[in-house]
Amino acid sequence: MSRFGLRRTVLLKQRPKGEPKPSDFQIDESVVPEPGPGQVLTRTRWLSIDPYMRGRVSDRKSYAAPVEIGSMMTGETAGEVLASTVPEFAPGDLVVGSRGWQTHTISNASSLVKVPRGGPPLSTYLGVLGMPGATAYTGLTDIGRPKSGETVVVSAASGAVGSVAGQLAKRAGARVVGVAGGADKCLYVQDELGFDACVDRQTIDMPAELADACPKGIDVYFENVGGDVQRVVFNQLNPFARVIMCGMVSQYNEAELPPGPNLGFVIGKRVLMQGFIVSDKPERIAEWRQLAAPWVEDGSLRYREDVIDGLENAPDALAGILGGRNFGKLLVRVAEEAA
Ligand SMILES: NC(=O)c1ccc[n+]([C@@H]2O[C@H](COP(=O)([O-])OP(=O)(O)OC[C@H]3O[C@@H](n4cnc5c(N)ncnc54)[C@H](OP(=O)(O)O)[C@@H]3O)[C@@H](O)[C@H]2O)c1
Repeated sequence: MSRFGLRRTVLLKQRPKGEPKPSDFQIDESVVPEPGPGQVLTRTRWLSIDPYMRGRVSDRKSYAAPVEIGSMMTGETAGEVLASTVPEFAPGDLVVGSRGWQTHTISNASSLVKVPRGGPPLSTYLGVLGMPGATAYTGLTDIGRPKSGETVVVSAASGAVGSVAGQLAKRAGARVVGVAGGADKCLYVQDELGFDACVDRQTIDMPAELADACPKGIDVYFENVGGDVQRVVFNQLNPFARVIMCGMVSQYNEAELPPGPNLGFVIGKRVLMQGFIVSDKPERIAEWRQLAAPWVEDGSLRYREDVIDGLENAPDALAGILGGRNFGKLLVRVAEEAA
């Protein structure tokens, strides 16, 4: 037995059909090893659950290789150092890294980033100050570039990416309209995040409600969901609109993709439409953290976390985010903070 006890790791057992199920995964237990030369042992406190993980458990062609059957699920984690053989890390240091669905990790020092104690909560480095926040920042500054007085629409507006994208568009002086699933999420988007309006994607006449909320049409669309929402927004785009193609979560569980949109309007309206992957520019995460950490600390950049307890519940959490059952940045609490 190790002095650090047992490590639990979530492995992919089979490729899910449709929504992922707990039976598509299995939990493996092993003794926590001591760190070897050049290595750091960490205990995971937080695991981030993100929509992109659905692509990793599928063998559909993608920009990133899938997780192999029998291998550990990939994912971003935040935790603390338990033991280290390198001078850069000491027990008690707080770190983030892409260390997978497991309770303990052995890492090379180069795969961990230290975060300060006494600053924003550790969990925020996976959400508002992490990959999702940097995604919103990159998409909005590189592609959307909203100007004062323009109208920006953001789908999945209460989520990790959408909530930041909308708040950044407000800072740029735009009129910002969210689209979100349900009255509670819409109230939060307006009252807490400060968007000018929010349309429920489940409402009976979404085209009319969106048109009411965007009387001057739509200049920038931050696309997170695809499907019906996309169809409605595309119909209301202004000439020279910019469309930030960030994600289309409504399709991630589909085995067969629906017929594509008719893109003739892109020519007639001279629309700029561009996709991007946040990891193309990894330097933007550090840049974003530096910019946004003071806003998180002074409360001017709002965020909400949806916490599920226990590593064994990570598969259910993944199914939930793909069905819109999360409300805010979805996190699994793998371990409590040490007393
Ligand atoms: N390009 C990149 O580098 C990059 C990086 C990170 C994330 N992304 C993408 O950004 C998007 C948002 O990610 P996130 O991490 O911030 O997740 P999130 O918004 O916190 O959670 C996903 C949300 O998508 C909405 N949704 C789920 N199923 C849907 C459906 N069938 N139809 C319409 N909406 C549905 C739900 O919000 P509502 O119920 O409010 O609609 C759900 O809460 C995803 O598409 C993700 O793939 C892209």
